[in-house]
Amino acid sequence: MTTILNGKELSRTLRSEITQQVSEFIQKTGITPCLAAILVGDDPASQVYVRNKEKACAEVGMKSQLFRLPADTTQEQLLELVDELNHDDSVHGILCQLPLPKQINEKVILDAVSADKDVDAFHPVNVGLILQGRPRFLPCTPFGIQEMLKRYGIETAGKHVVILGRSDIVGKPMAAMMVQRGIGADSTVTVCHSRTANLPSITSQADILIVAIGKPKFVTPEMVKDGAVVVDVGINRTEEGLVGDVDFEAVQAKTSAITPVPGGVGPLTITMLLGNTLKAAQGK
Ligand SMILES: NC(=O)c1ccc[n+]([C@@H]2O[C@H](COP(=O)([O-])OP(=O)(O)OC[C@H]3O[C@@H](n4cnc5c(N)ncnc54)[C@H](OP(=O)(O)O)[C@@H]3O)[C@@H](O)[C@H]2O)c1
Repeated sequence: MTTILNGKELSRTLRSEITQQVSEFIQKTGITPCLAAILVGDDPASQVYVRNKEKACAEVGMKSQLFRLPADTTQEQLLELVDELNHDDSVHGILCQLPLPKQINEKVILDAVSADKDVDAFHPVNVGLILQGRPRFLPCTPFGIQEMLKRYGIETAGKHVVILGRSDIVGKPMAAMMVQRGIGADSTVTVCHSRTANLPSITSQADILIVAIGKPKFVTPEMVKDGAVVVDVGINRTEEGLVGDVDFEAVQAKTSAITPVPGGVGPLTITMLLGNTLKAAQGK
């Protein structure tokens, strides 16, 4: 029998721990951690994500501020707002909801967010610190995956972790984290992408297979080793509803543990953002 890695339940546990820590922090310092979210334009998915982040802040006793800007905002106008928030002591975390409209260079904006308030961990300084094994913030999705592996007692030391996908948001930071020394890491890491040759021969060597490619049900049983742990990051909207990058029904019997979609990795991402905002407020 495989273990279903329940991100929804774990997220509830983590949020109640964060609520406690926020309350202790407020009692000690009189400061309420505050996340500033910037939303440019009216992309419906982005609106939902930002609303969920605001709700989550309120749930754990933190403040949030939403800055809504029109779709024709210029890069200079957005930079001005980021600069204002960088200098606002009552704001501890800043997130700029992606994607941004075409006239704005995302890299320029993400680089402008103060590294001390960069709760998404996208700033090059924070990426470098992760690579050196002394992170200030960890990016929310890989952070959630690592926390899930730890909390479920899944051994990572000496294990072959194969990561499918090399995005800056998931694949690359995940690899940088798993290769570090320490608990929840110490893995032997392989990163695969669309140019990888003989993909199934590599994925089927994985003790832990982490999939983030955005292709519905791409991973099939032949690609998975018996007894592997499979973590599915994919979120694909299809005619049959929300599905992951892994063919869950077909693959689960081969695994020792697997995340469902929805209810696996997804719920942890916002939770880790809350943790990062608290950390930013604590100045640690
Ligand atoms: N909170 C969450 O749960 C969460 C967070 C982030 C993302 N996601 C989901 O995770 C998925 C991936 O998102 P992302 O932003 O990391 O990815 P992304 O930026 O779209 O990049 C996809 C990666 O997958 C690789 N890839 C695509 N097709 C492939 C194939 N046939 N074989 C091997 N590799 C292939 C690409 O390779 P190349 O680099 O060679 O093009 C690329 O590295 C999406 O479904 C997204 O919605 C979920």
